[in-house]
Amino acid sequence: MSDGIEITEYSLALLKEATKARAKAHAPYSRFAVGVALRTASGKVYSGANIENTSYPEGWCAETSAISHMIMGAESAQDREIAELVVIADLTPPITPCGGCRQRIKEFATPQTRIHAADLAGIQHSYTLAALLPAAFHLEG
Ligand code: THU
Repeated sequence: MSDGIEITEYSLALLKEATKARAKAHAPYSRFAVGVALRTASGKVYSGANIENTSYPEGWCAETSAISHMIMGAESAQDREIAELVVIADLTPPITPCGGCRQRIKEFATPQTRIHAADLAGIQHSYTLAALLPAAFHLEG
């Protein structure tokens, strides 16, 4: 537990899916494979990996892949709301989503959305989105 955020059986199921997704990363340039799995407010699970490109800036993050899968699978508003997300990579202390991905997550999340950072030994830190992206950009309100 960290930041008072509980690691539940659902978090551990996401960790498993994120680990499987990481194995599918296309990261021949950075050699840094990242996996993400997210659970929606409706209980659906989607995952993704980073996909790099020989034209380096054209690659994208694992979070972006997972969000893309979520949007394509969504049939209701709750299917588009991220309740919880796990990111895993082979780095200790573990990585957290990059700045751009925090904003992408925010598009489909709430301030209470839980983000777990894992290394190969498991989830090490947990945050709310509000903690990772304070004073976030938004046009409305
Ligand atoms: N990467 C992710 O997939 N997610 C993050 O949150 C941080 C970075 C990827 C992008 C690139 O393919 C590799 O990690 C090295 O930066």
